Amino acid sequence: MSTRRIDTLLAEMTLAEKIGQLCQVQPEGRDQDDRVRAGGVGSLINVVGDDARHYQRLAVEESRLGIPLLLGRDVIHGFATIFPIPLGQAASFDPAGVRDAAATAAREAAAAGVNWTFSPMLDVVRDPRWGRVAESFGEDTLLASRMGAAMVQGYQGEGLAACAKHFVGYGAAQGGRDYAETAIPPRQLRDVYLPPFEAAVRAGALTLMTGFNDLDGIPATANEALVRGVLKGEWLFDGLVVSDWTSITELVIHGCAADDADAACQALLAGVDMEMASRSYRDHLEQAIASGAVPIAYVDDAVRRVLGVKERLGLFDHPFGRLRGPVSAAAADLQPRQMAQRSCVLLKNEDLLPLNEGIGRVAVIGPLADAGADQLGCWVFDADHARTHSVLAGLRERLGAHRVRFEPGLDSCRSHDEQGFAAALDAARAADVVVLCIGEDAGLSGEAHCRAYIDLPGAQQRLLDQLAATGTPVVAVVLSGRPLALAGVIDPARAVLMAWHPGSMGGPAIADLLFGEPPSGRLPMTLPRSVGQIPLYYNHKNTGRPPNPDSPRVPSGTPLDPRGFFSTYLDEDHRPLFPFGFGMSYTQFDYADLALSSPRLEPKGTLHVRMALRNVGARAGTEVVQLYVQDLCGSVTRPVKELKDFQRVTLQPGESRLVELVLAADQLRFTGRDGLSILEPGRFRLWVGPHAQAGLSAEFELAGGGTAPQASAVPPALE
Ligand code: BGC
Repeated sequence: MSTRRIDTLLAEMTLAEKIGQLCQVQPEGRDQDDRVRAGGVGSLINVVGDDARHYQRLAVEESRLGIPLLLGRDVIHGFATIFPIPLGQAASFDPAGVRDAAATAAREAAAAGVNWTFSPMLDVVRDPRWGRVAESFGEDTLLASRMGAAMVQGYQGEGLAACAKHFVGYGAAQGGRDYAETAIPPRQLRDVYLPPFEAAVRAGALTLMTGFNDLDGIPATANEALVRGVLKGEWLFDGLVVSDWTSITELVIHGCAADDADAACQALLAGVDMEMASRSYRDHLEQAIASGAVPIAYVDDAVRRVLGVKERLGLFDHPFGRLRGPVSAAAADLQPRQMAQRSCVLLKNEDLLPLNEGIGRVAVIGPLADAGADQLGCWVFDADHARTHSVLAGLRERLGAHRVRFEPGLDSCRSHDEQGFAAALDAARAADVVVLCIGEDAGLSGEAHCRAYIDLPGAQQRLLDQLAATGTPVVAVVLSGRPLALAGVIDPARAVLMAWHPGSMGGPAIADLLFGEPPSGRLPMTLPRSVGQIPLYYNHKNTGRPPNPDSPRVPSGTPLDPRGFFSTYLDEDHRPLFPFGFGMSYTQFDYADLALSSPRLEPKGTLHVRMALRNVGARAGTEVVQLYVQDLCGSVTRPVKELKDFQRVTLQPGESRLVELVLAADQLRFTGRDGLSILEPGRFRLWVGPHAQAGLSAEFELAGGGTAPQASAVPPALE
């Protein structure tokens, strides 16, 4: 990035001022006034409102060069208005909704002086034990790419710089334990973990954040081949790269930097332009330049990037942001309600839902039925809590308080104290239906909040079992920050709605769904039966000994010992409880007449995949039509299925529609044996269906293709 303004500034800056631009600091109150005045800070984190305006004024009016500050905040799924956690938003399969939610968050944040958010998180996650799965878009690369790009556009369209994080592989933390090392084979890194970041770059993301993770011996924050090589060299990313919180000085703890000075050199050389929270750039870069350990061109490049982001955000001309007007009431209430509706996934419905509006008495039970802060989920700092409506509130608003009896049963979802059971059972016996809100409180997911067991904590399972035994039908509404192992919930409950942490308007949204609004969420992650199956994801490889799908523990068609020699467990089904993409509605859809625009796809071509979708039930509903592809034989083994396109389609009863999904030949690329991206001719199978394990299928052929150049191992020269 080079404009006259940036060139002029760079020529005028002292080395100290240049290094200052590369430092991000968290103030304690107003303790950074002097440093800001001295031009020693490029960005502040976690200042909002008056403090944000105060510091911005100091930077612009009282520092020598008047360079505005980047003011960063974790606006992860809303600011004052809280939307469902990103994992829930992913379940909507609705990129436009995700974009609009981000736009609302951006307007609210900008009104509080914030101009940079550390979102979206694009870590592909295959292990639900990891607490940060809540912040992710789940296990699928395409879904994360589309949702991430939509979020970037939503934020940046309203003047809030996005930050795609955590570059890269952080979601593969071993054992699902936060900060644990990651070991991702290069091909998988290319084909599974990197594409969402490339999509964010293509969508114009102004910034990226490096991860905490040690990736096969090289922590992400010191990974020159990835940051300077792939991101900046190959993808031509010209925004700024920020470290994660103290992730530069943590290189010393990782054991790959001798001290903070060494860590600072490694990170800057790797391409990390700004240091978050720790002080190694501030304390050691000047000396590193004097000694020649870091060429000044690297510092200049980093400063250009920081100034470039400030310029593209318009901060030089509008340091306090452009006036965008308040968020409308519709955006503040209807939008989060609609997003919450779309994010809920109906997992089971045994002739119970939707409930009849005229139903007599409803027992609302469970520790999460009236837990406003918990339903917001993790990473919530600026919520307007007065605007949170719990499930209890939503049902009371809808039915009138006299028809709703509330008994929590348990004080918290982690509690083992069963004293409240008697009143809850009493309420259940006197009611026509039980709405039981169970799952995880907000403190059970998020950063450094991982779990070794992912079933219901506390005595919630016992509460459910006893309620079910009363004979009153139970709807289990599961609120959680991760996919849980729900086998024990599915049987006793007559209906199960996976609501994630649904945000401010989660309560009314859930009430809407229970009473007739058609559920349309689909699982963004495979639901395992038990923690022992993890990692369990739909786009795995076939193996040489795949299990027999019809008989999970007995292999098919071979004289081998029936105990196995196939890829199964002796003591657990190998199949998921619910597959990726699964979700029910209140109607049924029929898929028919699959047709391809051609049986042959040219290397630069596009395949149009059409089929007739018909609503054959008695209610309106929304189907998420999904297109999966399998490369039947490659020069390297290929996943059994990969999502390539999806579309939400709403149909009235009896209505049918021709649905067209699109597959570009380029989407069939993968990393070949030589590490290069390759488009390999051959036969492919595709499926169009309601989830990863069903659908109409057809085959097509990809005509002769070619390779495209991949990352240079050598970082681009700066001098
Ligand atoms: C997290 C980042 C976050 C940053 C700033 C870190 O601990 O890993 O995702 O943006 O803190 O709060």
